[in-house]
Amino acid sequence: MNRRLAILISGRGSNLQSILDATQSGSLDAKVAVVVSNRADAAGLARAREAGVEALHVSPRDFADRDGYDRELVKILRARDVGVVCLAGYMRLVGAPLLGAFERRILNIHPSLLPAFPGLDAQRQALEYGVRVSGATVHLVTSDLDAGPIVVQAPVAVLEDDTVDTLSARILVEEHRLYPEAIRLVLDAPWTIEGRRFRTPRAG
Ligand code: GAR
Repeated sequence: MNRRLAILISGRGSNLQSILDATQSGSLDAKVAVVVSNRADAAGLARAREAGVEALHVSPRDFADRDGYDRELVKILRARDVGVVCLAGYMRLVGAPLLGAFERRILNIHPSLLPAFPGLDAQRQALEYGVRVSGATVHLVTSDLDAGPIVVQAPVAVLEDDTVDTLSARILVEEHRLYPEAIRLVLDAPWTIEGRRFRTPRAG
């Protein structure tokens, strides 16, 4: 599989950083070809530039609708010969043009054990629901929000005195380990999709 990655972000970019670090240390054999943010103030853009990676702000305001925006993303990613797209704190729904152009090659990381707590504020949802275990998930992106085939997950215990901040911080530690691992699997393993299941001989 083409090992050139695009990372789509909207903010801080700590998951982007974990992917950059893994490619730089050689633990992930891939290259971040481009980082795109829908927000001009995303701190992740500076992280990318610091690592010598092209970083673009593409404003949704410049496009009539989501499909128009996503068609522009497809153009940008194709021009850079991107093989896999990683959503990393990208707070926009992915539309049909992007899904179609990168079918089964778009990953997302989410701060809960899906299918529990999809959507916004997953850590707050988990805390308020009262679960004893939450965690992080990397999944393939489909047209259903946070519901594509699951590539990897990691559990995180919810502690008695947790706040949204303390729980989020522990989940983030797992995310930073998990995302490079998921990308490695998608690039290297001879995986298949059976029903909802992401199957790989290595993952068992
Ligand atoms: C991460 O916790 C990620 O799982 C979450 O946003 C944060 C981004 O942090 N994504 C979602 O909630 C998507 N629904 P980062 O910008 O530091 O990587």
